[in-house]
Amino acid sequence: MKVTIVGAGAVGASCAEYIAIKDFASHIVLVDIKEGFAEGKAMDLMQTASLNNFDTKVEGSTNDYSKTKNSDIAVITSGIPRKPGMTREELIGINAGIVKSVAEQLIKYSPEVILIIVSNPMDTMTYLTHKVSGLQKNKIIGMGGALDSARFKYRLAEAINCPISDVDGIVIGGHSDTGMIPLTRLATRNSIRISDIISDERLNQVKEDTKVGGATLTKLLGTSAWYAPGAAVSSLVQSIACDQNKMFPCSAFLDGHYGLDDLCIGVPVILGKNGIERIVEIDLNPEELDQLKKSADGVKATNSMLDNLI
Ligand code: LAC
Repeated sequence: MKVTIVGAGAVGASCAEYIAIKDFASHIVLVDIKEGFAEGKAMDLMQTASLNNFDTKVEGSTNDYSKTKNSDIAVITSGIPRKPGMTREELIGINAGIVKSVAEQLIKYSPEVILIIVSNPMDTMTYLTHKVSGLQKNKIIGMGGALDSARFKYRLAEAINCPISDVDGIVIGGHSDTGMIPLTRLATRNSIRISDIISDERLNQVKEDTKVGGATLTKLLGTSAWYAPGAAVSSLVQSIACDQNKMFPCSAFLDGHYGLDDLCIGVPVILGKNGIERIVEIDLNPEELDQLKKSADGVKATNSMLDNLI
């Protein structure tokens, strides 16, 4: 199993590290445009192999995509991250051109590849990849909901003061501060509805904290986060590489699902050896469906900016 990660910045490197530590891939190629940077990160990671007990080979490449040939899965983290006070949408002008050319390079050397898009604005970058790549729609996956759901679980556990492994919850909708929909109604602690444990007000606070999860970290760190994004990507890659058929909310191309079409937005999907094996349509109540529709309108408004960029 060969995995390429484009962008050896904090998210790409964290993603490579988690994949290597989990030891399910034979080969990771890390690509970056900055001379020697990916090679350096790869060498540093390889020098952790004897300490962390993995056999995955990590190789770096300065923009030489021939090294990525025959990748099974490729992750695109390229582009610029947001700075404090910026929205993810503001990155579109720079990142659209970068993501387009990276996707084209990857497909040139790996026509059968499954792509995972991380670059922001993520739902729009995933949609752009659909438009320019010619890949089947099950082979393009946007990473957002898996990360947002991990942040949701963190906030839920904080609110009820319990271990994070006790809680379950998902976030659907766009990967943006306003578009995310943490499904508080369905969140549980060991099958008990969390809405029965804490007040509506506290649950609403969890929802709001989750929506600005990335922005909160960007303010603290001065740039966007990397551990949870890297861990989320590595879980998606593993579900595909090991044909685990796990369910994650991911940005998928919708074709009538949830009454929506011609966009990529976060919904629960099953990830296996073919990428998106199935889109799962959960029973949303009218209020949640309305929120999803509004979130989709927001994503479509950002998508429409692509017309002037590519
Ligand atoms: C975040 C970025 C990766 O939410 O979108 O941290």
